[in-house]
Amino acid sequence: MGCNPSSLRNQFKDPAIPISKSIHSASPVMSSYLVTGASRGLGAEFVRQLVLSPKSTIVYAAARNPHSSADLKEIKKIDKDGKLVFLTIDIDDEASITAAVKAVEQQSGGLDVLINCAGIASLQKIQDLTGEELLRLLKTNVVGTHLVTRALLSLIKKGSGKKIVNMCALFYCSWINTYSSSYTGSIGGSNALRCGGYATSKTALNAITVRWAKEHQDLAIFIVHPGWVKTDMGGSDAALEKDVSIKGMLEVIEKTGREGSGTSLGYDGSTLQW
Ligand SMILES: NC(=O)c1ccc[n+]([C@@H]2O[C@H](COP(=O)([O-])OP(=O)(O)OC[C@H]3O[C@@H](n4cnc5c(N)ncnc54)[C@H](OP(=O)(O)O)[C@@H]3O)[C@@H](O)[C@H]2O)c1
Repeated sequence: MGCNPSSLRNQFKDPAIPISKSIHSASPVMSSYLVTGASRGLGAEFVRQLVLSPKSTIVYAAARNPHSSADLKEIKKIDKDGKLVFLTIDIDDEASITAAVKAVEQQSGGLDVLINCAGIASLQKIQDLTGEELLRLLKTNVVGTHLVTRALLSLIKKGSGKKIVNMCALFYCSWINTYSSSYTGSIGGSNALRCGGYATSKTALNAITVRWAKEHQDLAIFIVHPGWVKTDMGGSDAALEKDVSIKGMLEVIEKTGREGSGTSLGYDGSTLQW
């Protein structure tokens, strides 16, 4: 394609995604799910609830070391219908993503819902953030999530659910005792002072999610925010238990159709500020 200004203008013209009054619409039956970062925390709780849900037929639990995850071993015990499939994916390692996608293709031929949950955080102020640390955060939270999405795109297009969900960031900075709710990834809403690199990476994730949504209007691609949840990352002072956050997010994921693509939603269904 030529790179002249008018073809670029056409290529990047805002496609004006129609947003209905409610971003929720009747969703198709969803059956196959893939969750990254499934070894512990929110990812493991997604997998647990999906395995128990009558709406799922297959649940891919993707983790760096799925077989050594204590949480996944426990979930395996309650997987009475044999829905749970372990996948080895380190989202920093493209070769591991490619190999796992081949396994999904062979097993299912398509994928209905991708939940990009893997992520890392760190606590520096921006002035203390080294280039190396910023790159580490961007590599996992943005590049890794992007590469997983890219690798699974053709399988998601073949699925009936056609949804990609990225996990956004909100941090209540209890460690600096402000307790002001801070949407760290939100440019408009964030006051967080000690997680500037993490916030920056999640802002970039928000941005790339919107680009994905604009480029693929046949899919529902959106951000879901879990709330402040008790996990290794959220800490023990967090406001929410994992089961409450995940139950809410799964309801949001189920209800959100293409009309909600390119938006940022809370676990309670609210629309969040960018
Ligand atoms: N908890 C909260 O309050 C909160 C709030 C807002 C957003 N979030 C977001 O929700 C997501 C999950 O958070 P969490 O609280 O469950 O965090 P967590 O308890 O720290 O768990 C992080 C998960 O991500 C995985 N992971 C990290 N790097 C990975 C990589 N390169 N490849 C594959 N997996 C990787 C970890 O796997 P290993 O076990 O192998 O390390 C682990 O399963 C993150 O994206 C986070 O930013 C959380």
